[in-house]
Amino acid sequence: MNQDELKKAAALAALEEIRTLAPGAVVGVGTGSTVNYFIDALAGSSIIIRGAVSSSEASAQRLAAHGIPLVSLSEIGAGMLPFYVDGADEIDPGFSMIKGGGGALTREKIVAAVANRFICICDASKKVPTLGRFPLPVEVIPMARVQVGHEIARLTGGTPLWREGFVTDNGNHILDVSGLVIDDPCRLESDLNQIAGIVTNGLFARRGADVLLLATASGVERSERA
Ligand code: 5RP
Repeated sequence: MNQDELKKAAALAALEEIRTLAPGAVVGVGTGSTVNYFIDALAGSSIIIRGAVSSSEASAQRLAAHGIPLVSLSEIGAGMLPFYVDGADEIDPGFSMIKGGGGALTREKIVAAVANRFICICDASKKVPTLGRFPLPVEVIPMARVQVGHEIARLTGGTPLWREGFVTDNGNHILDVSGLVIDDPCRLESDLNQIAGIVTNGLFARRGADVLLLATASGVERSERA
């Protein structure tokens, strides 16, 4: 199986995971090529939902194109978003993740924070012993980009690179920080949050995944956070 086939297999496994949804429930939907397979499969499935909360304009367009109603996060009461389904750029054994390769990290983190369960879908290449080989995306307010870059380099020893030409759905810029070995993802996530000008960093450790559906050559492995 190639990587796309593995992504599709993980996405199809997520459908089974959410099959218990009551008709009229709302599902949180992430962003990326793996999630695109999930959206397509959801649209073709017999699962009846009221709609989806999207983490990006791109996913919103794809959901709408399939006729899946978009629900605003403001309409969601406490505990009323049972699942959030999203991919990851890296996931470690403790289910902390690096996300934001597609630049949607801020809305992803917001929707994930509201959901009861975060279902991470990815191919086996995303599972790593330690986060950091994939450059860590950080969304920054444009006027603060250079200063934030200096601060990140000082704090982490990593090398921030401006994702030039890319503007997030929120009108901000992205710095991709390479050269990190992230032994303590919760701590780094919190430390980065203290830098003025950072909107969101792509570490999803304080709110990591609850369920991992990892597509491998021998099938989709399901595991839950310990
Ligand atoms: C987007 C993300 C994606 O989940 C992540 O980049 C994985 O993408 P893909 O499924 O295309 O490999 O965080 O901001």
